[in-house]
Amino acid sequence: MTKVAIIGFGSRGRMFGNLIKEDSDVELIAIADTEESCRAYGRQCGIPENMCFDSADSFFAQGKICDAVFICTQDAQHIDMALKAMELGYDICLEKPAAVNIEDCIAIRDTANKLGRKVMLTHVLRYAPFYQQIKKAIDNGILGEVVTLNQTENIAYWHFALAYVRGAWRNMANSSPTIIAKCCHDIDIINWLIPAKCTSVSSYGNLYYFNRAHAPEGSADHCADCDPKVRESCIYNAYSIYPERMNTSVIGGTAHLKGKDICAVLDSKTEVIGKCVFRGGNDAIDNQVVNMLFDSGATAHLTMTAFSERCYRYIKVHGTKGEIYGDAEDGILYLTEYGKPQQVIDVNKMTDRNLDDGHGGGDYFLYKDFIDYITKDSPSFTRTTIADSIECHLMGFKAEESRLKGGIPLEINL
Ligand SMILES: NC(=O)c1ccc[n+]([C@@H]2O[C@H](COP(=O)([O-])OP(=O)(O)OC[C@H]3O[C@@H](n4cnc5c(N)ncnc54)[C@H](O)[C@@H]3O)[C@@H](O)[C@H]2O)c1
Repeated sequence: MTKVAIIGFGSRGRMFGNLIKEDSDVELIAIADTEESCRAYGRQCGIPENMCFDSADSFFAQGKICDAVFICTQDAQHIDMALKAMELGYDICLEKPAAVNIEDCIAIRDTANKLGRKVMLTHVLRYAPFYQQIKKAIDNGILGEVVTLNQTENIAYWHFALAYVRGAWRNMANSSPTIIAKCCHDIDIINWLIPAKCTSVSSYGNLYYFNRAHAPEGSADHCADCDPKVRESCIYNAYSIYPERMNTSVIGGTAHLKGKDICAVLDSKTEVIGKCVFRGGNDAIDNQVVNMLFDSGATAHLTMTAFSERCYRYIKVHGTKGEIYGDAEDGILYLTEYGKPQQVIDVNKMTDRNLDDGHGGGDYFLYKDFIDYITKDSPSFTRTTIADSIECHLMGFKAEESRLKGGIPLEINL
């Protein structure tokens, strides 16, 4: 039996906890979370009281008590926890981003190499059957050589407001740049699919909409104080968004509010989720474009936008012999070998797994691969090495640096 622990039992930690529950070969022996409500949830999941630790530090103080840890705390906390876990001898499934600056990312990579620890970043998209089909079409040569790739991350207006205007990622200095926080998966996918090395990136982006310039007349710092007519007509009205969504899921940074009377929380004006989206002091940008050049001559383009109805990713890959495109949430791919009829590939029919949640099946398959990695070291077509993950992070951090420097191209050199 493989024994694991989860540090940070919020949204992502609970997701992994649920997958472990389904797996008869793996036992979740401990959780650590600073919030009592999260530890209470741990006890409900069958973890004994004395194994529900009140912080990562009190968990680490026990020494090495299991085979591996899942680190699912917030972005800026990963570095210290990852280094400590490796020092104690743990292999790690590390939530993305590895860290909030490139120096710390490199420290994680180098420590893993020096101590011989297995550290896998949660690049879930690679594991989604949708992207696996695209990878196979490229590796089989059906598309010929990949020349251009376009990826769009449509965050959805309501999701952006929850996570990047009012949520844990609203302030880039306290979390990570939006291109890292939201798009390190997209950059990973682009880097995985294009069989070449990225040599240069350039980027533009800004906070276009969620700022004081767009605050309607009659709005106030908190929805609680907004003119009722203005609030009624606002699509970001916290009273209409949160109570329902918090009943059905845990939103990053809000696990401690689960089970509370959300309208009373909003009335109290004590939580950031009740702030006006135009007056909250957030600085996470709501649109960004990144251009990438690869050493094969291939080019790629990534658009990140807050402004869409649905939360979905769209990809189009153009090769010398064919093209493939699709919407990852639909799970339908359109593949054309030039001069031949178009094929429609429905990835939903390719697995028994429900692909509707968990990043198109990616969370489940990533979890399984991590367990295979630490128990059998079996080869995997999909697995990302810590070195590859850190290279993708560098592309993201360089894109952010380019954006801040007015879009100048910057070399990728690790
Ligand atoms: N792989 C993905 O697709 C994906 C998706 C969403 C979020 N994430 C990443 O996962 C991480 C967690 O995000 P989340 O949405 O689950 O956040 P969350 O806020 O729901 O969970 C984090 C938990 O860590 C706990 N915590 C804080 N300090 C702690 C400490 N010192 N010791 C132990 N626990 C502590 C908090 O109480 C909270 O319950 C973030 O880094 C985020 O960027 C990854």
